[in-house]
Amino acid sequence: MFSSDSLYGGISIAGEPNPGGGISGNRDETVIAEADRYIIDRERPRHHLSFGFGIHRCVGNRLAELQLQIIWEEILERLPVIEVKRPPKRVYSTFIKGYENLAVVIPRRA
Ligand code: HEM
Repeated sequence: MFSSDSLYGGISIAGEPNPGGGISGNRDETVIAEADRYIIDRERPRHHLSFGFGIHRCVGNRLAELQLQIIWEEILERLPVIEVKRPPKRVYSTFIKGYENLAVVIPRRA
């Protein structure tokens, strides 16, 4: 929610939901260095807002991380090379930074 002194174009938006808050927070260069770069071995990788913050922080966050770790371990063991053919088509959303379409080629293993 926007706070009581929040304005947009001079109009108060106090109390309105802020769907982009976590996304813009994750790009805050004063907190996260080179926030727009995907740095797989960055320091403090869990220091982000994608699972929310505070008392309603996602209760499934550890399970989600474990699922993603396992799925990538299994995929990369079977398919070590995955070539991205062209820039992906992104989901048009203020909330989800996802892919609508990502064309890849998986070469046959020798
Ligand atoms: C990558 C996967 C996931 C993402 C990005 C995600 C993200 C989030 C976000 C942003 C919230 C809202 C936090 C807030 O309101 O401040 C949330 C809440 C929640 N998530 Fe997740 N989540 C994921 C996976 C999961 C999984 C796997 C489970 C359960 C098995 C789960 C269960 C919940 C529950 C129960 C809440 C409500 C917590 C509350 O209101 O106290 N999530 N999640």
